[in-house]
Amino acid sequence: MAALKSNILRLLVVFLVLAACAAAARAYVTIVEDSAFDDRQMRPQVSFEHNEHNEKAGIESCNTCHHFYENGEKRKNSDSVGMECSSCHYKAESGELELIRIYHKQCKSCHLQKEQGPVQCGQCHRKTGENP
Ligand code: HEC
Ligand code: HEC
Ligand code: HEC
Ligand code: HEC
Repeated sequence: MAALKSNILRLLVVFLVLAACAAAARAYVTIVEDSAFDDRQMRPQVSFEHNEHNEKAGIESCNTCHHFYENGEKRKNSDSVGMECSSCHYKAESGELELIRIYHKQCKSCHLQKEQGPVQCGQCHRKTGENP
């Protein structure tokens, strides 16, 4: 019984490591494409050169954006890398508005606070090939 348990644990660890690698391999994001908006695209897609953006902005921790909460508190040493924002912030019955608010809040509040980065609609929702 104990041996079985430890084998299951080992499998779980292998699975988590593989999942983490798969997530890292996909980290190259150039536009935000949350699947919750798949059926509905009113604005042009949002340019977001994920890695360059975070480097230029000097953001050190993944959980600045990919945060993880427990009992209402943000956990310093945990993150939600690999999960879409909508997996926690979207409920079909309330529609997309709350998710839109959440994205805008996270992106814009930092830009406003740092007085750097776009805050106007067309600067993020760019038509292809357009510069900010
Ligand atoms: C400025 C905010 C921000 C920071 C900082 C950030 N990310 Fe992201 N990341 C995003 C957004 C927004 C998306 C795209 C939305 C989504 O997939 O839910 C994304 C997508 C991803 C994806 C793709 C997920 C998928 O489903 O395809 C991975 C992997 C990822 N980030 C890893 C990381 C890692 C690792 C770090 C730290 C080194 C990091 N991110 C830091 C905002 C951020
Ligand atoms: C694992 C679940 C989870 C994921 C994934 C997640 N969040 Fe959150 N988020 C929470 C929780 C829990 C809170 C705090 C409680 C609340 O206000 O909803 C929160 C709070 C927030 C807040 C402040 C709350 C407010 O009402 O103003 C913003 C903004 C936010 N998240 C944006 C994002 C963005 C953008 C992403 C994707 C990059 C993301 N979250 C991914 C769970 C998550
Ligand atoms: C914690 C702070 C922070 C958060 C969160 C953040 N940004 Fe930024 N962003 C910055 C800073 C700082 C700059 C200016 C960096 C520079 O160009 O020197 C910037 C610049 C930008 C630019 C212009 C430069 C470029 O890369 O094209 C875009 C577009 C942008 N941000 C989009 C986003 C989006 C979309 C989100 C939400 C998913 C987001 N940002 C979240 C800090 C942040
Ligand atoms: C700092 C960048 C930023 C700014 C500025 C911004 N948005 Fe967004 N917006 C986002 C992100 C990120 C998403 C999530 C996009 C996705 O996953 O497709 C989003 C989603 C949306 C959506 C839902 C997706 C769609 O296209 O139907 C609408 C509508 C929207 N924004 C309208 C606006 C309007 C109107 C303004 C100006 C008042 C604005 N946005 C300003 C970043 C921004």
